[in-house]
Amino acid sequence: EDAAGSAVDPFALVRDEVLIVSDRLCQSIVSNVPALEQAAEYFFRPGVRGKRLRPTLLLLMSSALSEQPPPPELLLPDHRPPHERPQEQRRRQQRIAEIAELIHVASLLHDDVLDDAETRRGISSLNASSGNKLAILAGDFLLARASVTLASLQNTEIVELLSRVLEHLVAGEVMQMSAGPEQLTSMAYYLDKTYYKTASLMANSSRAVAILGEQQPEVADLAWQYGRHLGLAFQIVDDLLDILGSSKQLGKPALNDMRAGLATAPVLFAAEEQPGLIPLIKRKFKGDSDVQAGLQMVQQSSGIQRAKELAAHHAQLAAQQIEALPQSSSPHALAAREALINITHRVLVRSK
Ligand code: FPP
Ligand code: MG
Ligand code: MG
Repeated sequence: EDAAGSAVDPFALVRDEVLIVSDRLCQSIVSNVPALEQAAEYFFRPGVRGKRLRPTLLLLMSSALSEQPPPPELLLPDHRPPHERPQEQRRRQQRIAEIAELIHVASLLHDDVLDDAETRRGISSLNASSGNKLAILAGDFLLARASVTLASLQNTEIVELLSRVLEHLVAGEVMQMSAGPEQLTSMAYYLDKTYYKTASLMANSSRAVAILGEQQPEVADLAWQYGRHLGLAFQIVDDLLDILGSSKQLGKPALNDMRAGLATAPVLFAAEEQPGLIPLIKRKFKGDSDVQAGLQMVQQSSGIQRAKELAAHHAQLAAQQIEALPQSSSPHALAAREALINITHRVLVRSK
């Protein structure tokens, strides 16, 4: 048994298929401009590929909504050029997993430029090692390739869903950088921003998988809600780790958020008990003394505890969406559903 109190490894169920998706991802970022290809594959190299949480949960969602397991040939690499491959349902759902990962990594490349980040996933950020210009262009390139894959699905509803995600990522980032004093101290504003920055990608790509699975609108809504609540829980835990974790553990500096002038859920809860925090939040934690004073007030409050409870609340709501799916007697679908619920527990106990 692991820390989540379960012997199931939700990642194991679709591990082989995630490898196929990763393989396809690497193929889709080939370019005849070597400098571009090198930059674009920076976070797709072995060792720095991340947890592949998004492809994993999208493939699990595909399985959760399907009576049949994926046909075995779809778990083997396909070396035919894209236009010669048949467009089975499962293959189309795999495309969503690819697109989601491409968008995610593109947003990280751009984010590290905006945040002046030095490290990511335990290595130098691309902007730090190759400069802002190349990092931005590499992100643009990944988005371009995501667009090509998206177009290949020939489904305008899916194009709109994923385009909306791009809009949300940008909107969330601009909400964060342009917040005024009232917005900086508002939990509602923080949660809206968090949906845009993190949860929208998981929510709308989950919906896309359901639509490609020819599910009823009610089921597509459950898939969307699952992604939304899981995304919110995931980001609130991320915000907690920024305060509780060490930089070594995280692969990026700790206390990054406060240093960058951001008040996240634990800080906003703490401010309800520690009014002294409010002026610090409003002036975006000027200097190390503000950060240290802020940290102390957070530690003297129930902010950490309440943020943990909020994350747990969203994780539980995510799990409830899976329980509300139409009944299935397919062992394959039921195992995937169990794994999706298991992820809602794991998201709460992760340490990086
Ligand atoms: C990480 O946040 C950043 C995001 C989840 C989204 C960033 C979005 C943009 C930069 C807009 C551009 C969008 C596209 C589609 C390229 P963080 O800085 O809080 O987390 P970190 O600790 O991982 O850096
Ligand atoms: Mg960042
Ligand atoms: Mg950022």
